[in-house]
Amino acid sequence: MSTTPKDLLTIDALSDADIRSILKGAAEMKQVFCSGKTHPALAGKSVLTLFYEPSTRTRSSFELAARRLQADVTTFSVATSSVVKGESVHDTIDTLMSMHMDYIIVRHKNSGIPAVIGRHAKASVINAGDGAHAHPSQAFLDAFTLQEKYGELSGKRVVIIGDILHSRVARSTSTILKRLGAEVAYMGPGPLVPLQKHTGIPRFTNWDAIFDWKPDVIYLLRVQNERMDTPYFPSADYHQAFGVTEERLKRIDALDLSIMHPGPVNRGVELCDSAMEYRNSLICNQVENGVAARMSILSYLTPRTQHND
Ligand code: CP
Repeated sequence: MSTTPKDLLTIDALSDADIRSILKGAAEMKQVFCSGKTHPALAGKSVLTLFYEPSTRTRSSFELAARRLQADVTTFSVATSSVVKGESVHDTIDTLMSMHMDYIIVRHKNSGIPAVIGRHAKASVINAGDGAHAHPSQAFLDAFTLQEKYGELSGKRVVIIGDILHSRVARSTSTILKRLGAEVAYMGPGPLVPLQKHTGIPRFTNWDAIFDWKPDVIYLLRVQNERMDTPYFPSADYHQAFGVTEERLKRIDALDLSIMHPGPVNRGVELCDSAMEYRNSLICNQVENGVAARMSILSYLTPRTQHND
């Protein structure tokens, strides 16, 4: 029997061997993906995408990844489902499991919902983003993108900038990068950056401190207005204080730093327009690598449906 995990809920729940294997698999799956071929890893399996929050990149790349692995893919559309008539997550999952799904990819605004589904279902459950908690497939595509660019990540410095407090991406990506030996720092508006004593991660609140820290990679986060019930900073000041302005882009270019962003980008807030065209922007690489990373994740997990137990 395979010893690989059933679910992907957080990076913390994975061993170092799991992380290395999934990243190695991503490199192999990228060759399959870029050649236009398919891989039979999920032939005869059923994959369900269950998104209670909007998504462009994560849902479409998981669906593409599953099809490239020869799975049947069902898209559950919350807006046109019985959820709008009040059906609970529990009853929705029971209904869908009766259709013998092997993999459920779930995004929900509440932290912990994928874990609850994972305990309940024989299918492999993949957390595609739960509230401000975790977004592990994003972490894998980010780490894979940086490995492509730099090789070993040991000693590389990545500063994650923006709304750290509400960011599942910051949590998952900083965790995987640290597990791979990179150094991570956070920067952003004071109320949105947790204290170092709580995270173990150095905390900065201005760009001068960041440039002094000498990062290799500038990783911008989207300002998540939908997760803030009260304003944490004056919105008009955000770009000047924390964004990549035209001026800062020149300095980033001179230092040959890379820029990343998980998307969707708020142009003129996190990044000026020219930053989208910057020669060392890895943003399109992140999207492309999302398919390969997710092919690797799907083929690595072991649903209990495979063992009829
Ligand atoms: N990075 C990310 O999660 O993007 P989506 O919200 O478009 O899936």
